[in-house]
Amino acid sequence: MSKQKIQDLTRDSEAKRTDHWWQSKRGPAFIDPFIHFDEKSIEIVKPLINRGQIVVDLGCGWGYYAFKLADLVGPYGKVYCVDLSEKCTQKIISRIQKRKFDHIEVHNSTAADINFIPDSLVDLVFANGLLCSMAIERDLAVSEIKRVLKATGYAYLSLGAVPPMGYVDEEEWHGILQGFNLVEGGNFKEKWALVSLS
Ligand SMILES: C[S@@+](CC[C@H](N)C(=O)[O-])C[C@H]1O[C@@H](n2cnc3c(N)ncnc32)[C@H](O)[C@@H]1O
Repeated sequence: MSKQKIQDLTRDSEAKRTDHWWQSKRGPAFIDPFIHFDEKSIEIVKPLINRGQIVVDLGCGWGYYAFKLADLVGPYGKVYCVDLSEKCTQKIISRIQKRKFDHIEVHNSTAADINFIPDSLVDLVFANGLLCSMAIERDLAVSEIKRVLKATGYAYLSLGAVPPMGYVDEEEWHGILQGFNLVEGGNFKEKWALVSLS
């Protein structure tokens, strides 16, 4: 997409553009419970998650990871699921109702404004494939991640795709990481990083 076309995008047009994600990046959603395509990201964050903690699945899609995160924090923890696609958030809400996950809170919202989450509340922000999918306002999403993280918290950032399929190029990726303390990863080719505030 040209730079001018990207500048013309609004949150509303972005929301329409993201609606196909309810089918998941891995393939039709119904396949995922049977074939586990991408467990690496959850394996990286697992050792950091304790029961009772607060996690945000930012750009959660239809919730493939959200339910795993909810199992890890347990019933006294909490998972905020945030996605701009209403089809994705509706799908999670219907799964919550079936499986009685009272500690998952779903928000149909842009990651660029998550004002429903208080400052410095969150132990882990899990943003798997989010930033590369945002055509606009990635800087605001990064600021929001910093705002909600506890001083002792972590953020897992990954790029599902790089240009021309994704929006974050190598220069921007390194710029994003410079704003944090890099804990692990960070290589643009590997497309993931575990970061903290301090
Ligand atoms: C590559 S998918 C990743 C989904 C999920 N994290 C996973 O790993 O299965 C990117 C997700 O980001 C969402 N997204 C794109 N732009 C967004 C925005 N501005 N705010 C919140 N979510 C957004 C899309 O709707 C989509 O669900």
